[in-house]
Amino acid sequence: MSSATPVIAIDGPSASGKGTVAQLVARQLGFHYLDSGALYRIVAFAGKQAGIPWQDEAALASLAAKLDIRFENGEILMGHDNVSDAVRSEEMSRGASEVAVHPLVRRALLGLQHGFRRAPGLVADGRDMGSAVFPEATTKVFLTASAAVRAERRYKQLIDKGNHANLAQILADIEARDARDMQRSAAPLRQCADAILLDTSELTIDQAVDAVLAIARKTSAIK
Ligand code: DC
Repeated sequence: MSSATPVIAIDGPSASGKGTVAQLVARQLGFHYLDSGALYRIVAFAGKQAGIPWQDEAALASLAAKLDIRFENGEILMGHDNVSDAVRSEEMSRGASEVAVHPLVRRALLGLQHGFRRAPGLVADGRDMGSAVFPEATTKVFLTASAAVRAERRYKQLIDKGNHANLAQILADIEARDARDMQRSAAPLRQCADAILLDTSELTIDQAVDAVLAIARKTSAIK
């Protein structure tokens, strides 16, 4: 890891659009992209496959330290299996949030996350990118939107994919996940003092991408 390699840390709550925005920013800049939430999803998924309960911190941490995973062309490979869809299920959204409360699991995933910092730069997306994983990041953005707007976006995504969805249930799930992510003692979701707040409730994706690029330019992560 080179400390000269710029990192744009984008943190924020679930369904804020941060994943989409972070990937587009990375693509525009030709930077690498770290989807740190996927790592917690993979731990939840691998734990379930191995019969390890999501409360078993020690067993999950040793599993997390040995994960055989690769990110290739937007797909997540675990061993020989493509687990991209499996880890995106609502069950694994909940599982990820549950396994993420364990400090030993978080610590086991640190080295893996640092390995993504390679030239020419990294866009890191998560909850604790600016606070814990890359505290020296060049640019820190806290990207959020109101819970109601986030629930509507997730609802629309599900309906567009032909799934059945219940808006009230989605809103309740988002609020429960926000509460768990913000209230845990290990690296809770919060806006760092040096992060710039970007509320995307009223922004299109393109406007949010442009806003992040403008912040990155101002903090000179990019020219
Ligand atoms: O971004 P996501 O929805 O894929 O994240 C899934 C869960 O993982 C989220 O509820 C909290 C946890 N998480 C975390 O604790 N730290 C991160 N850097 C990223 C995600």
